[in-house]
Amino acid sequence: MAVKIVVGAQWGDEGKGKVTDKLAETADYVVRFSGGNNAGHTVIVEDDKYELHLIPSSILYPNKKSVIGNGVVIDPLALISEMEGLKERGLSFDNFYISEQAHVVMPYHKEFDGLEEKRKGDNKIGTTKKGIGPAYTDKVARRGIRVCDLINEDKFKKKLDNVLEYKNLILDKVYNEKKLSYENILEQYLKAAEILKPYVTDTSKLLDEAYKNDKNIFFEGAQGTLLDIDYGSYPYVTSSNPTAGGVCTGSGFGPTRIDDIIGVAKAYLTRVGAGPFPTELFNEMGTFLQEKGHEYGVTTGRARRCGWLDLPLLKYAVRVNGLTELVLTKVDVLSGLEEIKVCTSYKGDSCNISQAGLQGDNEPIYEIYPGWNKDIKGIQDFNKLPSEAQKFINMIEKEIEIPITVIGTGPEREDAIIRK
Ligand code: GDP
Ligand code: IMO
Ligand code: MG
Repeated sequence: MAVKIVVGAQWGDEGKGKVTDKLAETADYVVRFSGGNNAGHTVIVEDDKYELHLIPSSILYPNKKSVIGNGVVIDPLALISEMEGLKERGLSFDNFYISEQAHVVMPYHKEFDGLEEKRKGDNKIGTTKKGIGPAYTDKVARRGIRVCDLINEDKFKKKLDNVLEYKNLILDKVYNEKKLSYENILEQYLKAAEILKPYVTDTSKLLDEAYKNDKNIFFEGAQGTLLDIDYGSYPYVTSSNPTAGGVCTGSGFGPTRIDDIIGVAKAYLTRVGAGPFPTELFNEMGTFLQEKGHEYGVTTGRARRCGWLDLPLLKYAVRVNGLTELVLTKVDVLSGLEEIKVCTSYKGDSCNISQAGLQGDNEPIYEIYPGWNKDIKGIQDFNKLPSEAQKFINMIEKEIEIPITVIGTGPEREDAIIRK
């Protein structure tokens, strides 16, 4: 029996989907605990490419149980559309579970997400406009609508009536925008509730029973450490806790039961949306990483900003998550570079290196490592990597002081070096 967490150690898109899919081979349960359909997780199996947003990557295996925990915010319409797309591709939802305590993303959340971004102008966050921030805001403000409310028609009608009155006042008086129709939302959401109801359950209890029955339970992170509402580059963050601590509050599964916390990081760094990024490249090297790494967002299609690996930030991710091991992805993307830079510290910052990186106020100091020419795509044996690549990986491992147990050598399920 094992309980493992997979979290992003950077600004998201580290390859968590691929890693979870690989781990899911031995999982009984895979659980999403934070975020919503702002996430976009790519899994490639032979010639089939899947892009998952709300549904755990384990859905690709018919016998694994896929769970959406209470910490996730669920857009029911987006979830149903994602389920339909996967069903059309022959996937089964017989083992799919949704927490009754998860909060629901409502149409006004999406509306406010867009309006706030517009109002902020040059200071915008660059959100995915999926309504994630406003949904978590309502959760904390204690006026959210939960899945258990959605599937209870009387309750839903009352709650919607109450909250929509307030939301429409803001739409009208603050933003000078058209009010939303109660009837339209009611009709759409009650229809969605009927479809989702069979999957709704007490997922904390489900996981407790699984644990007591010695099942393997894996938690699939969304977003990444540097997007965490508490530990990320605030305010350029998402509105949840994608770090390891979010697992317990986001699933009702206690911390004493967790064995292993696996961080996922790219061998370089990317970010979608606005905010500081000290090692960002604005030259042809950035374009090289973007093109070779296919760095375009799964959810919004936006080009990802690219830069060199930032070791102080990676060490920070090891610390705030308590990582026990790291998966280093996309090492294959670096093949063909004459030299590879790595940020090891920041100028003029001797006391608080991680905050400097998070706020982007200090200039990075780089160390340069020799690159390699050999195409390493699909290599599964560490000893078959060019010596320069081996040295580069060993250097990172020494710096972060935890083992690098998996090395990504391509996007497909089997493109990986497993070191333990
Ligand atoms: P996630 O959000 O963390 O699941 O990551 P995304 O799916 O948004 O982005 C990661 C991208 O990198 C996807 O297109 C993956 O197919 C791809 N990928 C994952 N691991 C590797 C790797 O080791 N090498 C290469 N070349 N691509 C990878
Ligand atoms: P996965 O799970 C990368 C970013 C957005 C924006 C900020 C806030 O695929 O790694 P939000 O819509 O959450 O309010 O946007 O967070 N962001 C992500 N960036 N990968 C993600 O998910 C992200 N989810 C949100 O681009 O900068
Ligand atoms: Mg992604």
